[in-house]
Amino acid sequence: MLARAVLLQMAGNKKIESFARTNRLAASMAARFIAAEKIEQVTAPVRALNKQGLTVSLDFLGESVTNEQEIAVVVDTYLRLFQHIRAEDLDSNVSIKLTSVGLDLDPDICYRNMARILNAAGPDQFVRIDMEGSTHTQRTLDLFWRLWEGGEPHKNTGVVIQSYLHRSEADIKTMIEKQVRVRLCKGAYKEPATVAFQEKSEVDANFVKLMQELLLHGNYPGIATHDSKMIDATKQFAAENNIPSARYEFQMLYGVRRDVQQQLRQEGYNVRVYTPFGDHWYPYMMRRLAERPANLWFGLRSMIGK
Ligand code: FDA
Repeated sequence: MLARAVLLQMAGNKKIESFARTNRLAASMAARFIAAEKIEQVTAPVRALNKQGLTVSLDFLGESVTNEQEIAVVVDTYLRLFQHIRAEDLDSNVSIKLTSVGLDLDPDICYRNMARILNAAGPDQFVRIDMEGSTHTQRTLDLFWRLWEGGEPHKNTGVVIQSYLHRSEADIKTMIEKQVRVRLCKGAYKEPATVAFQEKSEVDANFVKLMQELLLHGNYPGIATHDSKMIDATKQFAAENNIPSARYEFQMLYGVRRDVQQQLRQEGYNVRVYTPFGDHWYPYMMRRLAERPANLWFGLRSMIGK
C-alpha cells in the first residue's frame, strides 16, 4: 500500500519526470508498457496483436498538457492516427484523455477539439474517453454528455467508469439508460476516502456488482482488468445468464499478462489490448508500477542482465 502511494505521488512530480525522461533505466522500464514513440511505429505491434486475434485501442500519451501548442500536437496526432489506422488496415479503435485536448485549459476548447476528433473518426471508428483522477470525473462526464447529446450529437464515443468511486453505481445506471458504451475498470489514481473505497475487497465487490449490471443491460461493455478473480467472475456470470461472448469484451493493457490475453482469446472471448504510444510516457508508466511494484524489480533485473 505504501509503495503504491509513493509511486502514485511520484507520477505527478514534474521534476522527477524530467529526470526520468533522460534516464536509461526508466526508458527501458517504459518500453515494457509503451508500444512505440511515433505513429509510424505502431503498425508492427498492432499487427502482431491482431494476428493473435486481439483487437487494440491506441492511446497517444499526452495527459495534462498545459498550453494550446501542446494541445494542437495531440489533436493533430489523433487526426493522423485515424488515417494511419485506415491506410494500414489495423483492427484498432482509439482512447483519449480529455486533459490532453484542453479540459484543464477551457472546456469550450476541449469540446471543439473533441468534436473535430469525433468527426474525423467517422461513424465506423470508436473513440473511448479515458477517465482520469476524481477532480476530473464530473467535468469529463459533462463534456461527454455535451458531445453525446449536444447540437451535433456524436455517438461514436463512450466512457470509462471506475469501481473504486462511490458515485459509479449511479453513473452506470445513467449510462445503461442511454445505452452508452462503458469500459469498467477499478481506477488507477490515489483518491481520498470521501470519494473512493479504500479497501481492495470493497473495490473488487463493486467491480463485480457493476460488471453484472453492464453484462445484463449495457451496450457492449469493456471489462478492463488483469485480475483473474474479476475475469472468472465475469465468465461465470455470463455463462449462468446465457450472455453470449459477442455481447462484451475483456480489455487489458499492452505488456500486462500477455499469457492471459491469449488464453482468453483461445477460449473464444473478445479481447482488446489498450496500447499506448508517444514520448510522454512517465505518468502512465508510474501508474503501472504503482499497480504492481514487483515490476520495478523486473525492470532492474532486465537492465542488469543486459
Ligand atoms: P489489480 O491491480 O487489482 O490486481 C489484482 C490481481 O491481478 C493481482 O493481485 C494479480 O493477481 C493480477 N495482476 C494484476 N496485474 C498483474 C500483472 N502485471 N502481472 C500479473 N498479474 C497481475 N484506470 C483509470 O483510472 N482510468 C482509465 O481510463 C483506465 N483505463 C484502463 C484500460 C484498460 C484496458 C485497463 C486494463 C485498465 C485501465 N485502467 C484505467 C487501470 C485500472 O483502473 C487499474 O488500475 C488496473 O487495471 C489494475 O487493476 P486490475 O483490475 O488489473 O487488478
